[in-house]
Amino acid sequence: MLKVEGINKKNANRRSFLKNGIAAAGAVTVGAGMMSSGLSALGADREHGGITEGDVAVLRYLAAIELIETDLWQQYNELGGQNAPDSAYKTGLQQLDGDMPQYIADNTDDEMTHETFINAYLTSKGAKPVSLDPFRNLEGSQVTEISGLASKKRLTNLMQLSVDTSWWTRYRSDNQNPDLGDTFPNAVPTLAAGKFPAIPRNNAELGIGVKIVPVANHVQAIANTAGFHFAFIEQGGTSLYAAMAQKVTNLEVLRVVLSIGGTEIMHFQTWHDKAGNAIPLTDGSLVFPDLTADIPQPESLQSNLIMPEPTVFLSKKLPVCSIIRPTATKGAAMGVVNDFIKDGLFIGQTPDFLAFLHDLANEADEAERELER
Ligand SMILES: [Fe+2]
Ligand SMILES: [Fe+2]
Repeated sequence: MLKVEGINKKNANRRSFLKNGIAAAGAVTVGAGMMSSGLSALGADREHGGITEGDVAVLRYLAAIELIETDLWQQYNELGGQNAPDSAYKTGLQQLDGDMPQYIADNTDDEMTHETFINAYLTSKGAKPVSLDPFRNLEGSQVTEISGLASKKRLTNLMQLSVDTSWWTRYRSDNQNPDLGDTFPNAVPTLAAGKFPAIPRNNAELGIGVKIVPVANHVQAIANTAGFHFAFIEQGGTSLYAAMAQKVTNLEVLRVVLSIGGTEIMHFQTWHDKAGNAIPLTDGSLVFPDLTADIPQPESLQSNLIMPEPTVFLSKKLPVCSIIRPTATKGAAMGVVNDFIKDGLFIGQTPDFLAFLHDLANEADEAERELER
């Protein structure tokens, strides 16, 4: 059995892989023992595509992000998805689009398959899958009208969100790009300024069986918050996968990242369209403005401008281009973790959970594409 020490060194380059006999053509048989980086000798077998330590770091980080997405989407699905009972909350969501419960159910399914696939792929390469089960610590909604819901432990908190809506104005700008240092105002400024529930916290906020419109103001505010949060989450995935694709080495890993990333874009596009239908209202400090296109307002807010406005890309000297934004790689993995923290998703989570996520993000951010492959 060949000793494979050094494989878990950060930024291990191709040289160290070769030196350790891992990826070299015709490498002597190495044991399939697991290394601490999560990459086993099997993972470097050319027949298995020879994925690098950086590839493993990116995939493990993405597996964690997908587990987080799955956890939050499951909560939305239980309360507002296709199989959720009729309620004022579900009706409130349907004010954004009659098909919202179906879309919520499908987005939930998609995230579960992303997480399951990436972990299975890692395992197939002899690398360690990611589990966040030890961190399912949080109390979720205390709705008792849905059997068993109140006792479930969660990874994410959807009841004190500060939802950033600058993606709305970012995708409507024709002369600015976050990758060139530009910043963007929120479309719904009050939503980023407080802590608001995006799911009903109790039976009263759920309003079981109620299918009357207009929905009570406060419940509609919760549904509106969810509508913008859906798009916030998925625009993050849209940029994240584009950034991570630039860091992987193995062509099959690139295929995995591009193929899953594309569905994040589809999710974002759908939710972007629906958020514009949020019912204008005021609920305490929370104000949802009317973003519909048929009132005079700047293009930076106009609700039917859901296609990415062509904007500056790479350099202001080049012609504008319709693109995903941002796509810069520097600190992208940690950036998403920090955005989730700012969003309130991890309120109540343990320092151990955050430390684990930070480690995965650091390793993904340190991954670099190895040009020789
Ligand atoms: Fe996903
Ligand atoms: Fe997603």
